[in-house]
Amino acid sequence: MKQSLFTLEHARQLTGDVWELALAGDASAITAPGQFVNLELPGKFLRRPISVCDWTEERLVLLVKEAGAGTRELVRLPAGTRLDLLTGLGNGFDVSAVPEEAVLTGGGVGAAPLYGLARRMKEAGRSPAVVLGFRSREDAFYLEEFAALGLPVKIATEDGSLGAGGFVTGVLRNLPDCRYVLACGPSPMLKAVCALPQLTGGQFSFEARMACGFGACVGCTIGTKNGLRRVCKDGPVFRKEEILW
Ligand code: FES
Repeated sequence: MKQSLFTLEHARQLTGDVWELALAGDASAITAPGQFVNLELPGKFLRRPISVCDWTEERLVLLVKEAGAGTRELVRLPAGTRLDLLTGLGNGFDVSAVPEEAVLTGGGVGAAPLYGLARRMKEAGRSPAVVLGFRSREDAFYLEEFAALGLPVKIATEDGSLGAGGFVTGVLRNLPDCRYVLACGPSPMLKAVCALPQLTGGQFSFEARMACGFGACVGCTIGTKNGLRRVCKDGPVFRKEEILW
């Protein structure tokens, strides 16, 4: 974990409530896709945990969903604003443990960490299929970015306005080789994906209310088959076989 100041390069609106923030600063503490940062909002006491979409040693990209006064203010900060971040938080996805036929699946802003994951898997010579779910065409984002990676991408929208109608589970169920998933999204989606009968394994990234973000306050504890675990420190990524729904 590292605490350092980042400079906001830009905030770009992707949909009605999802924004891309690019930040320049020392991102060297980030070691795995699926890790997150804990960002201090000006004038706010609690930091905001935000998953990392993509990064280099000197730059971070975060996708932020506007969900209240704090994030509304954050995405409207002018370029050049200095922000205090804790970086390199959480375990992230373990790509070394992923079988060849793994599928990446994300719902809503849960697609964000899958982009960095997909990019790294592609660079490592892998070509995982990607299945993304959104409420509607208007809510979909980063489709061009995923497509530019040259990976097979399938979309599901709840209202059927783009791709398959319904949820990602409908698409995953029909993928013949889908035995293992790397998933990020809201809890009901993760639960439904985890219950797919064809799955032999997977890694699931959880969201939780957090305070410290680095394991000190136990405010984010969940029960697992291996006992109590802190989402911020032991997760946010948990293996299929250890999750208690
Ligand atoms: Fe403090 Fe997880 S947020 S232990």
